[in-house]
Amino acid sequence: MGRVIPDPELSPRRAARAEAERLATAALTLPQTPVTEPNSPTPPSRRALRASSPSTRSVRTVFADTASNPTFRRRRLGAGVAAVLVIVAGGVAIGAAVSGVSGEAATSAVADGAVATVTGPPAVPDAGLPVPQLAAVAATATPCDDPTFTAALSAGDDGAAIAAAGGGSAFREAVASGIAPCVSLSDPDRQWVVVNKQRPLDPLDYRAGDLVMPDAVRALEQSALRQAAAGALTTLVRAAADAGAGEIGYLSAFRSFSTQQSTYAGRVAVGGVDEADRESARAGYSEHQTGLAVDIVPCDGSCATLDDVAGSRQGAWVREHAWEYGFITRYAEGRESVSGYEPEAWHLRYIGPELARAYHEGGYTTLEEFFGLPAAPTY
Ligand code: DAL
Ligand code: ZN
Repeated sequence: MGRVIPDPELSPRRAARAEAERLATAALTLPQTPVTEPNSPTPPSRRALRASSPSTRSVRTVFADTASNPTFRRRRLGAGVAAVLVIVAGGVAIGAAVSGVSGEAATSAVADGAVATVTGPPAVPDAGLPVPQLAAVAATATPCDDPTFTAALSAGDDGAAIAAAGGGSAFREAVASGIAPCVSLSDPDRQWVVVNKQRPLDPLDYRAGDLVMPDAVRALEQSALRQAAAGALTTLVRAAADAGAGEIGYLSAFRSFSTQQSTYAGRVAVGGVDEADRESARAGYSEHQTGLAVDIVPCDGSCATLDDVAGSRQGAWVREHAWEYGFITRYAEGRESVSGYEPEAWHLRYIGPELARAYHEGGYTTLEEFFGLPAAPTY
């Protein structure tokens, strides 16, 4: 701001008051920072800025007139508060625009007790200005603080626990984000247990407790499943037949630690360790030991082999519908680098209907990614 040229008609008292008003105006006028393109060599002149901003002068006039008002100080305080609110609201709106959340949603999320975190700022090539990003993060809501959830966990009722958590997707989100430490993905009694080359069973020779043979399903071996999985397999097999997809039988379901030792040793004898490790789990590392996995086969009169599942109508139906009965295809095509195994169209893993729905709807292809766990390509 330039020096004020003295007005010859001004009395010393009015001049003093005018100077006081001028100083007040100067304090209240926000500095006009020229906005330039990031690489603009010459900023616009002050004259050009004034010409393009005619409101600057009228704002000053209003402030100067107002300064003599007795309520000016209170209004000035109010104006300062309002300016802060506008800046905060503007920040929320900008952040919301960038993050795709409406300003209303973002502010109400904050008002509801969520924690707003600012990340970034990203580069904004057009304006050259940093833009804060707001992300609403749920506060500390964890199913582990919910007595209904913990009671279901204690009772061993996995379905009730998932329901108490708000369903399969909410349960998955809570576990994957790390806010549910009372849920163990290593507990072999749970439908959500994750077993892979990095996650052996604990104990290594774990044996499931409620093994039964599924009703009305052709079993090529006397191989049982845990009760919930056996019931679901019966329902799945009946639904496939009703849909005209043919009969589904199975070869192998629960395998004990010692059976898995023999199975793996047989593969090593045929193809060596490297090949065996891509097809068969070592004892203590197989889902079959949990009683939640089953190797199906297509049966048209007689039953075909595991390798025939992928190209069969039964296999096609299972790919589409197994999730509806609580099963997933655990070792999917092209996911060996995460799951650790070549594709096995025949190996179905029971995780329960709620989690299987979340898995299907979320488009997941490995249980590791579903629960946010590291890939397990090797031991
Ligand atoms: N074939 C699977 C990986 C198993 O042996 O458990
Ligand atoms: Zn299998």
